[in-house]
Amino acid sequence: MLKSTVSLKKDFLNKIKIRYDKNIPPEFVQQLYLSVGWQHRECCEIKKSLEGSFLVASAWIGEILVGLARATGDGVFSVTIWDFSILPAYQKQGIGKLLLNSMLTKLNDYDIPLITLYSELDKKNFYSKLGFECGSKKIIGMYKYNK
Ligand SMILES: CC(C)(COP(=O)(O)OP(=O)(O)OC[C@H]1O[C@@H](n2cnc3c(N)ncnc32)[C@H](O)[C@@H]1OP(=O)(O)O)[C@@H](O)C(=O)NCCC(=O)NCCS
Repeated sequence: MLKSTVSLKKDFLNKIKIRYDKNIPPEFVQQLYLSVGWQHRECCEIKKSLEGSFLVASAWIGEILVGLARATGDGVFSVTIWDFSILPAYQKQGIGKLLLNSMLTKLNDYDIPLITLYSELDKKNFYSKLGFECGSKKIIGMYKYNK
């Protein structure tokens, strides 16, 4: 019997392994960042950023790193999610949602009351579907480039 699209998607997502260790070859991460069009980052800097993160969540199909996100912060009052990226060939198949949901569940274990992130405008709905809100009229995000 033919399988439905929903059950095919489920089968596919069952193949994804989410990991929380920081033992990820930085060159894999470098390639992932380049694949989504982000600027070149040195492997030694990537390694440092993984080690210095509060949480690193990665998605794998076998030996292929298909997605990654990091959370930084004190791990008590707040954390901020950075560098959320899914390999282009694997986008729009539910991996981003799986990874973010898994990360949010993991962060629940620490009882952290505030999770923040910066979103590109055209990615806003990806995050809002998973519960993130834009700033209110009273609170806005601010940033300053330091280089
Ligand atoms: C944004 C990104 C992480 C989404 O990952 P993904 O695996 O393609 O997303 P999913 O397939 O899990 O989508 C989950 C849901 O979000 C929606 N969605 C995904 N990308 C979206 C986008 N750019 N805008 C609006 N909605 C989006 C999907 O339609 C889906 O909705 P549904 O649950 O109602 O079916 C991925 O496209 C990516 O890595 N982009 C390049 C890097 C990047 O820009 N990162 C974010 C920086 S702010």
